[in-house]
Amino acid sequence: MKRILFLLSAACLATGVAARADAPPASPSPEDLVAMRKGGMDMSTAVLAGAGAIANGDGPLKALALPVRGLVNWADALPSTFPAGSGDVADSRAKPEIWSDWAGFTARAEEFRRATGAMQAAVAANDRDALVSALASTKAACKGCHDSYQIPPARRPGD
Ligand code: HEC
Repeated sequence: MKRILFLLSAACLATGVAARADAPPASPSPEDLVAMRKGGMDMSTAVLAGAGAIANGDGPLKALALPVRGLVNWADALPSTFPAGSGDVADSRAKPEIWSDWAGFTARAEEFRRATGAMQAAVAANDRDALVSALASTKAACKGCHDSYQIPPARRPGD
């Protein structure tokens, strides 16, 4: 049984690769962009959880240098994963206000970029108090953007 499952998943992987291997894409499709931004957002959640555990414990701050660099890079690129026309994808929870109020959206993204920069500076300076404060600003920047520009997740029964 295990062997059959293995062969089946290998076949699926091979088909997926073959479907994309004939030519490089000219640009990402709207579906790809939604997957990219969701991936960036989900990975940011993981980076913040790790940073919180280290900042509020006594682990070495330098362990955060790489994940926080990733967060800064993601913050720089975030607006470009929302080009015009990438809102009309079935499983996207991006609000149309992103595009009708682009200046407001990019101001939120800039707030996020500054907060992640402060996290990076705190890690480089090995300053735990500064990191705790920059972490709080970063979380506030995530929420600030979501409150205006993200359709809230559907409530599950029992929530
Ligand atoms: C400038 C706006 C903005 C900022 C800043 C931002 N987000 Fe988001 N986030 C969004 C939008 C818009 C979506 C919905 C994207 C979509 O579904 O197309 C989203 C979606 C998400 C999701 C759901 C992803 C999925 O798999 O469906 C998570 C989790 C998330 N954000 C976490 C974060 C965290 C954590 C931060 C801060 C570290 C953050 N976001 C910062 C706008 C933002």
